[in-house]
Amino acid sequence: MEIEAIRTAYRRYARIYDAVFGAILHPGRKLIIQALNLRPGDNILEVGVGTGLSLPLYPENVKVTGIDISGEMLAKARERVHQQNLAQAEAVLEMDAEDLKFPESTFDKVVAMYVVSVVSDLPTLVDEMRRVCKPGGEMFIVNHFRSRNGFIRALEGLFSPLAKLVGFHPNLALEDLLEQTGLDVVEIRSANLFDYWKVLRCRSTIKRSLPMDVTESIEHDSTVQGVSR
Ligand SMILES: C[S@@+](CC[C@H](N)C(=O)[O-])C[C@H]1O[C@@H](n2cnc3c(N)ncnc32)[C@H](O)[C@@H]1O
Repeated sequence: MEIEAIRTAYRRYARIYDAVFGAILHPGRKLIIQALNLRPGDNILEVGVGTGLSLPLYPENVKVTGIDISGEMLAKARERVHQQNLAQAEAVLEMDAEDLKFPESTFDKVVAMYVVSVVSDLPTLVDEMRRVCKPGGEMFIVNHFRSRNGFIRALEGLFSPLAKLVGFHPNLALEDLLEQTGLDVVEIRSANLFDYWKVLRCRSTIKRSLPMDVTESIEHDSTVQGVSR
């Protein structure tokens, strides 16, 4: 999706976003924070932080910077930080995740919750996440990926032309994400309703050139074996 289409979609969503996508996607947010294995003082970047639903989930002894391209979504996030006095929320900034204004190796961990099927250029997003992550740091992604079930897959295909309207691509395949970005996934867990969403833990330092066989890891929902080189 083009950036203006994304801005338009989330300008419309901002007021109702929490009611529509708050509770239903919250188990995935909790699972990713758990997977982060946070240590006191960790410096975290969350791209596409939206209305900041995840911010209260981070412990107070870490520093979180949330960025988003939608001013309206961010206004809600700032309201939340203020109302709940969230000390962990170091900054909430309007910024394009595909063109981050941070120096390289700034963050210990970089997080994208329900964002990879929204952005306009996936490889650029992941390259930017990788660039600002410290060597040895990790990147975490939670998203819905194209279903392996034929019926659901057909439905996702039907919704696909409505991406601009719904504000995301319903049929992004995990295999395509990995092939386009070279993400080095070390763990996959399932989340949310019907385990329909996946939480990926990825190393930031390695860019894989070979597509990995994710079939088994998706089906068995486990640590991915033998993917590092
Ligand atoms: C589906 S919402 C997810 C919001 C939040 N992460 C959550 O857990 O609900 C996707 C968010 O990504 C943001 N976004 C899309 N493209 C972006 C980009 N290039 N840079 C920064 N944010 C972007 C949208 O504005 C929107 O707030």
